[in-house]
Amino acid sequence: MKAYLLNETGGVENLRLSTIAKPEIAADEVLVEVKAISINPVDAKVRAAGELLAMIVGTEDLPVILGWDIAGVVAAVGGQVTGMDVGDRVFGMIRFPGEGKAYAEYVASPASHLARMPETLTFEDAAATTLAALTALQALRPRVKRGDRVLVHAGSGGVGHFAIQIAKTLGAYVISTSSAANRDFLLSLGTDEHIDYRAQKFEEMLSDVDLVLDSMGGDVLVKSLRVVRDGGKVVSLPTNEFTEAVQAEVSRREIELDFILVESNGADLSTLSNLLENGELNAHVSKVFSFDDMADAHRHIESGRTVGKIVVAL
Ligand SMILES: NC(=O)c1ccc[n+]([C@@H]2O[C@H](COP(=O)([O-])OP(=O)(O)OC[C@H]3O[C@@H](n4cnc5c(N)ncnc54)[C@H](OP(=O)(O)O)[C@@H]3O)[C@@H](O)[C@H]2O)c1
Repeated sequence: MKAYLLNETGGVENLRLSTIAKPEIAADEVLVEVKAISINPVDAKVRAAGELLAMIVGTEDLPVILGWDIAGVVAAVGGQVTGMDVGDRVFGMIRFPGEGKAYAEYVASPASHLARMPETLTFEDAAATTLAALTALQALRPRVKRGDRVLVHAGSGGVGHFAIQIAKTLGAYVISTSSAANRDFLLSLGTDEHIDYRAQKFEEMLSDVDLVLDSMGGDVLVKSLRVVRDGGKVVSLPTNEFTEAVQAEVSRREIELDFILVESNGADLSTLSNLLENGELNAHVSKVFSFDDMADAHRHIESGRTVGKIVVAL
């Protein structure tokens, strides 16, 4: 089968399309013939930096096969797997954190990291509704209650566009930031208030926010603390390293500041599958790349301007 091997961390040219053996499956695994792969900022960050390889993939031994988000068709089922058959259409985020090995024509996945795709969903939309959507779900569901004021930074990005929709299903009032070009997109997702971060200062416009979902870090995190109410919550996605000033502010005002790292979870995926099926959640796939154009997909995600999700189709 064809797969992208990363022999050395660095630029996109280090993603090498190679021919390797199809993976074997263990008794609790499923072999998936991959139809679509979604690309995340973490794919490019791990490709570029050795220290992230150890942190996210859990090894410094190369080569590795990057990628975690897939949708495809079950090609074989391990002896202990129940409830999944050859020919089923499935999707999932495989072994995150760990080595997902998703940039390949076939992927061996723990059955517990997959869910059945809703009947009418395309492989592209299913592949898109994985790492970014699980992040939004795992960040918001335990922390948001009906009527909360929730600020979603970068609402037009992969995580943000799912977070707006999930926060709405939880009954929140949602405020979200993006550039002016993506305003209508955010409003179409259900955002109650849009802030153009280039022309407006959210830190001067907002107060009494119950929860901030921060996918930017740095200055955006510092300013976010100004708008969150005492005793409110901030979820940080880019980093778990906070300055002493941030830590002091958080402790003085009893703000709950958590870094979360998304984790593979079949039950959460089934929740997403149900939301997709009943139309409460929609993936927005803004660009589809061919498998041969993986380097272009990485360049695109590294631009920081992705709207919704980008997907590689096989
Ligand atoms: N900890 C975890 O488990 C976890 C999980 C997923 C993601 N993450 C991290 O979270 C971050 C976001 O991920 P993602 O997949 O959503 O990224 P993404 O899809 O690449 O986000 C791109 C979007 O960010 C918007 N944006 C850029 N700068 C902005 C700013 N200053 N204010 C508001 N919006 C801005 C852009 O909108 P405009 O073009 O309109 O500016 C663009 O639509 C990444 O750092 C990623 O690594 C962490």
